[in-house]
This record gives sequence, C-alpha cells and structure tokens, in this order.
Amino acid sequence: MENEKTLELIQLLQEIASKHGEKAAFSTSFSFEDQVISHYIFTLDLPIKVFTLDTGRIFPETYSVLNSTRERYAKTIQVYFPKTEAVEQLVTSKGASSFYESIDNRIECCFIRKVEPLNRALRNVNCWITGLRSEHSENRQQLSVYEWDEKRNLQKVNPLINWTFEEVKAIIKEFTIPYNVLHDRGFVSIGCQPCTRAIKEGENFRAGRWWWESSEKKECGLHG
Ligand code: ADX
Ligand code: SF4
Repeated sequence: MENEKTLELIQLLQEIASKHGEKAAFSTSFSFEDQVISHYIFTLDLPIKVFTLDTGRIFPETYSVLNSTRERYAKTIQVYFPKTEAVEQLVTSKGASSFYESIDNRIECCFIRKVEPLNRALRNVNCWITGLRSEHSENRQQLSVYEWDEKRNLQKVNPLINWTFEEVKAIIKEFTIPYNVLHDRGFVSIGCQPCTRAIKEGENFRAGRWWWESSEKKECGLHG
C-alpha cells in the first residue's frame, strides 16, 4: 500500500523522468534510502540513469546488494571506478591506508576514489537525485528537496530529505527490497570498508564514518 510520502516520491520521480529523461541520474550506495529510490525508479520503469561509485574499497556485503538488486529488478546499474593511474600513483606513493594519517590525505583519497568518478558520472546530466536525509547530520538539516549544485551546475534533488529512518525501513520491509546485511550488525551509514564502523547505542548517524576524525563536518566532497 502506498502512503502519502511514497505517492509524493513516485510523483517526483515521474516528473523528473518526464522533464529530464536520460539526463536525470540517481547515485546509489545501496543504503536503505537508496534502495527505496531504486525500487521506485526500477518498478516504474523510469528512464533515469542509476549509477554507483565503486571506490575499490567497498565492503563485500555492498557488492552482494549490487548483485541482489540487479537480480531482483533486471535493470542496469552503471558502475564508475576511479582512474587506474590515480589509484596506482596514490597507493605507490603513500601506501594503502594514507587516509588515517591526515585529513588532507583522507580528502585526497576521497577525491580520487569518489569525487572524480562522481563528476564523470554527472557529465551531461541535468538533474542529480540522491538519498540524502536531514536526520543524517546537522549539515544536512539545512537541505531541501530541491537544491542547486553550484560546483557541478546542475539541479540536485533529495526526495527523501524529510523522511525518517523508520519510514525508510518500513518501505524496505513492505516490499522486501534487498538491503545491505551490515545494517543488521549495527552499521547505519555505510561507505568504504576501512573508513566505516558500526555505531554504538546513543551515537549519531554518521559517527561510524571516518570515526578517527574529530571534525563535526564529516563529508567527502560528494555533498560539500
Ligand atoms: S557520503 O558523502 O557520506 O559518502 P552518504 O553515504 O551519506 O554520502 O550517502 C548519501 C548519498 O550520497 C547517497 O544516498 C547516494 O545518493 C550518494 N552516494 C554516497 N556514496 C555513494 C557511492 N559510493 N555511489 C553512489 N552514490 C553514493
Ligand atoms: Fe578513501 Fe576512505 Fe574516502 Fe573511501 S572513504 S575514498 S577509502 S578515504
């Protein structure tokens, strides 16, 4: 059964598809949120491009959701990988764990493995759909459904910005949508394996991301 929020989501995705067609793209990291959006894009058979950034350091469990999502919907999920030479140079010069050594090193790795491939994926795209929610962080509380991405000069749409975690999970359950099994082991926000841990009771949503950094503004450059 569709509720008010899912009806709004469906309407929004249909509007984007009819306005932008294949010039609309949805980035998925296979989070609970992303799986809800993919579910509707795929079941409504919308022409929106669905893509993921495989940083080369994601969890085996995340690859499993990629596979189970492909099997469930029989649709294309376009995969973007970092530039070979950039990764070769990074790991040759700084080793495989440079991100633990300084914030600059961490940002450098995120740029090579995430931001550059994202920019490539969004080339020729007019409308970028994400699974951001305001509950994720203080930063994200300032965001609305429609944003303008100055850097990339495109419209950014966050259809689930006002959804609660419970509302997202309810849809996953109702439609038995494939999800990352790490969510059952205390992981909430899931990124790369070396930079993500499970959270403990009482910790905030993004406490498990780059947990060794003290900065409140934990972003990797995808979203600011
Ligand atoms: S991140 O910037 O800290 O990594 P987060 O994990 O909260 O982002 O996810 C927020 C949104 O960013 C997701 O809903 C998705 O749209 C996008 N995103 C994050 N990581 C990826 C990825 N590896 N591939 C594609 N999209 C991603
Ligand atoms: Fe590199 Fe960690 Fe950023 Fe992934 S999250 S790109 S491993 S620094």
